[in-house]
Amino acid sequence: MSSGQSEFATQLESVRNEGLKALEQAAMPEQLEAWRVTYLGRREGKLTLAMRGLSAVPPESRPVVGAVANQVKTALEEAFAARKQSLKALALERMAQHEKLDVTLPGRPAPMGRLHPTTQTIREVTAAFTAMGFQVVEGPEVELDEYNFELLNIPKGHPARDKFDTIWVDQLDANGDMPMLLRTHTSPVQARVMQKMQPPIRIIAPGKVYRYEAVDATHEWHFHQIEGLAVDEGITFANLKATLYDFARRIFGADRRVRFRCDFFPFVEPGVDMSIDCFQCKGKGVIKIGNRTEPCRLCKETGWIEMMGAGMVHPRVLEAVGYDSRKYTGFAFGMGVERIAILKYGIDDIRHFYTNDVRFLRQF
Ligand code: PHE
Repeated sequence: MSSGQSEFATQLESVRNEGLKALEQAAMPEQLEAWRVTYLGRREGKLTLAMRGLSAVPPESRPVVGAVANQVKTALEEAFAARKQSLKALALERMAQHEKLDVTLPGRPAPMGRLHPTTQTIREVTAAFTAMGFQVVEGPEVELDEYNFELLNIPKGHPARDKFDTIWVDQLDANGDMPMLLRTHTSPVQARVMQKMQPPIRIIAPGKVYRYEAVDATHEWHFHQIEGLAVDEGITFANLKATLYDFARRIFGADRRVRFRCDFFPFVEPGVDMSIDCFQCKGKGVIKIGNRTEPCRLCKETGWIEMMGAGMVHPRVLEAVGYDSRKYTGFAFGMGVERIAILKYGIDDIRHFYTNDVRFLRQF
């Protein structure tokens, strides 16, 4: 070997020895990568730098020296791969030791959502009516005076307007009137449906309504109603009674009794309110606790619980949407959804429906 040749070989040897030693110190992936750049880096790596000494080697010796260089390179590369592999195995081993997972442990219970009692009640009631052939429709919550009042035979200045404490939309029309409001009941859907469809009509319209009212245990300023409407030739009050009787039994039980009493709503004639016998006192007005009798608070000792308003659609309402009131008759009814849920589940405060306390909601 010439002196250039052996000097070069020595240099390569020392790169190899130093490299192999340093590799043993590299224990983390970042250290391993730093080692690779230091020794095997293509541009500035120690091996690359040492290879520059090849130019000092006489040309005839280069193949031999080149072979040595290749051996060193291979040795470093192989050592690197082996180290990488063993570190990986070690890491896995450690993970297996410290992060073991008992797949037989029971899982954490995932909280399950459910339908709000208001939604459940709407679905139950609409199901009772769709079973009788009624179709579900919806109307807007921001409504026009025209539909909420005018077309329902409640013209401006009519005293019945006072019964519906109205939240008006703060916007004036050309006459200086406020034409828009938050609907106070679902009855405007009656007029909307009749304007669009021709009899026979059998619809049910669930939705949200608003009243400008002080909130307490039995009053909310927003709640839900379900409206019903049937218009056809030859519809009578007997059809109304039969339909609501069937509804009451489907929702409140097969032994339910119902009562109709005269009531007034401008959009029906005659108008009624429908009650069902009190399920707490079974219509007696008092409850027996042991050998004591106590007044029934649920029905206020009357034995009856008011369920909804109803009646035969007023001829003026039929005429206002362009129907011939001599040809067609109809019945309509409207009930409060929360009220039904309150009665059905014995809820003590209507405010529970909007406070969204899970302790309340979980009961349903
Ligand atoms: N819309 C009436 C109310 O909110 C209820 C009702 C509907 C009465 C249909 C008769 C007919 O009080």
